[in-house]
Amino acid sequence: MTALLLATRNRGKKRELEHFLSAAGASLRLLSLDDVAAGEDIEETGGTFAENARLKAGHYSRVTGLDTLGDDSGLEVAALGGRPGVLSARYAGPGAGDGERVAKLLDEMRDVADRRARFVSAVCISRRGAALAQFVGTVEGLILREKRGAGGFGYDPLFLFPPLCRTFAELPLAEKNRISHRARALEQVREFIRRGGLEERPLV
Ligand code: IMP
Repeated sequence: MTALLLATRNRGKKRELEHFLSAAGASLRLLSLDDVAAGEDIEETGGTFAENARLKAGHYSRVTGLDTLGDDSGLEVAALGGRPGVLSARYAGPGAGDGERVAKLLDEMRDVADRRARFVSAVCISRRGAALAQFVGTVEGLILREKRGAGGFGYDPLFLFPPLCRTFAELPLAEKNRISHRARALEQVREFIRRGGLEERPLV
């Protein structure tokens, strides 16, 4: 049976990844950092989502010897030059919650006419410290002037998805999981695994 370590301690994220990847192959066993001896958590010091995904996948695959999937995601706002970007989780400071981050974004965007933004999800799969594959998923939207909807998390209540005229917080979870940046990245991961990307290859 093939094992894949998910470089996360977040149970919600593990469940979401399990949901997506369960269709990749019946013999795939998913583990999280809480299931293995992975040592100290690594810091996300990369300047891009892809770099952070690669850092995490590379580090934990080296430490544990297991094939590892690392991911990083966040919101890029055009008028803010791509901010909050890789700092999406830390945008309003270390102790702040979703409410404070949303309030700060509304404040920064108060007099801004260009409302374009996108969510980005970068994923990297590594083996013994080296990247086997990298994928990126994005979804384009607009930042509203006030919150709408009670579902989702993070910046979802401000993120309008124009094709459905709804924010991500107004969509049922199953619907968001069909169109989100993470879904678009994980669909590529699923395909990679389905095509045998995790099979061991002879060295010569
Ligand atoms: P991470 O990938 O766990 O580091 O998450 C980064 C941050 O980006 C989260 O704390 C959220 O603030 C934001 N983020 C990532 N994905 C989403 C999403 O699907 N909806 C809303 N916010 C998100």
